[in-house]
Amino acid sequence: MKRIVILVSGRGSNMQAIVERCAADGWAAAVVAVLANRPDAAGLDFARARGIATAVVDHRAYAERAAFDAALGAAIDRFAPDLVVLAGFMRILGPEFVRRYEGRLLNIHPSLLPAFPGLHTHRRALEAGCKAVGASVHFVTAELDHGPIVVQSVVPVRPGDDEHSLAARVLATEHIIYPLAVRWFVEDRLERDGALVRQRDGASQVLM
Ligand code: GAR
Repeated sequence: MKRIVILVSGRGSNMQAIVERCAADGWAAAVVAVLANRPDAAGLDFARARGIATAVVDHRAYAERAAFDAALGAAIDRFAPDLVVLAGFMRILGPEFVRRYEGRLLNIHPSLLPAFPGLHTHRRALEAGCKAVGASVHFVTAELDHGPIVVQSVVPVRPGDDEHSLAARVLATEHIIYPLAVRWFVEDRLERDGALVRQRDGASQVLM
């Protein structure tokens, strides 16, 4: 039974999608804890209602990022995870933290990486005249929103789209690809070769 810890900062809809698919599809895994850096993160309520352990490491209590990262790492390690999943976790994590979980730390970002790391991805994609946008699940490296890509979704831009309509369509795909990537990880179906991640069974790593 693989142990998954999920980190959220807010709504936590990707966390919910993972919890639900894990339970409904009977993965040999369990979401053992949901951690947040804000006590008011809505995702915590969902986790509590599901009987999942929760913890808050409030970033405002730490003057230095390294101290926050260390406290977060200690809180995570209490749950002895095989995999740590960033699901809308909106704090930048330092290199030491990233090294500590190297190879077992996943993130989702709402763009076709390496395009548009950071904030306001949909607005920036529209401003750039992109004809397609999407989301990426990737292994985390020390560089923000960067790292070996596990799976991507591609969403066409429609005439009249604004950042909200695009965000909603991309989010719907996030709820498919993130559980898929987590399942592949816990079932040992991912193979890493430098920047390249292969799905061992040859399953498609793009959702169109
Ligand atoms: C998602 O769209 C996720 O891709 C994004 O935050 C949202 C969280 O929603 N993450 C990032 O921008 C990371 N750089 P959720 O809390 O409902 O899962």
